[in-house]
Amino acid sequence: MQSIFDTIKHCALEIDRAIKSEDLGYCDSANASGDDQLKLDIKSDAIIEKAFSGHPLVKSLVSEEKEGELVMNETGKYTICYDPLDGSSLVDVNLSVGSIFGIYDGELKGENLVASAYVVYGPRIELVTVVKGEAPKHYRAQNDTFLTVYETLQLNKKGKLNAPGGTQQHWYDYHKSFIDKLFAEGYRLRYSGGMVPDLHQILLKGGGIFSYPGTSDKPEGKLRQLFEVLPFALVYEAAGGEAVDHKGHRLLELAPLHVHDTTPCFFGSRYEIAKLKEAYGV
Ligand code: F6P
Repeated sequence: MQSIFDTIKHCALEIDRAIKSEDLGYCDSANASGDDQLKLDIKSDAIIEKAFSGHPLVKSLVSEEKEGELVMNETGKYTICYDPLDGSSLVDVNLSVGSIFGIYDGELKGENLVASAYVVYGPRIELVTVVKGEAPKHYRAQNDTFLTVYETLQLNKKGKLNAPGGTQQHWYDYHKSFIDKLFAEGYRLRYSGGMVPDLHQILLKGGGIFSYPGTSDKPEGKLRQLFEVLPFALVYEAAGGEAVDHKGHRLLELAPLHVHDTTPCFFGSRYEIAKLKEAYGV
């Protein structure tokens, strides 16, 4: 797994250089989920594809920016599902963005996710990696080398931050009342519109909850299972938190029918997830 994480580090440095120096404009295309594609999305995708081509352990790649699976090496063991530049439209307003990687052994479903990693491109480049069964590790790039910040990341049982996604106009009443109650308990709003920095902040500041619920206009939520939701579910569970859907089921038990399937999702410390289950009656 270390050689895959090393390749991710190499991609992170290259993508960061592209963010800082390249054209930010839109292409004339949309990705498989219908989002407009930025030139930076395509560039980041190409950087990752090139870096993993020829990697002996990697059988195929599934990118958020492409429709199907790209088989590169039939004898490889893993499929990497990745979002090359999540929240890319935030680059335009100089907010943090990220890359997310899920490493699957076998069929593409939660129980086969064996490792994941994400990179945050902000004032610094940071990386969090996790291997199933182990605690997440936190690194920071300094002079193009990733140095360990924390050997193990651990969430507190209860946090203070609340990152509520989705358009409030379309929230269901029980969701609105759940979010309102957290604020009434003293939780502080922390939502940038980039799931990578938002989940990273909650993880590093000890806890809280990030939610992207099903809404009346998007009952299945917005965030994609294979590239966004499952990799973070592995990180949050490994840090002692929980990651569940609107039925209270572990996200890591999901088995998407299509590579671009989405799901309502909630990531947090144990206290906030218990409150969520209570509010949703699950
Ligand atoms: O999936 C892309 C994304 O930008 C996530 O990073 C983020 O959490 C979410 O969309 C924000 O969506 P919204 O603008 O609906 O809050």
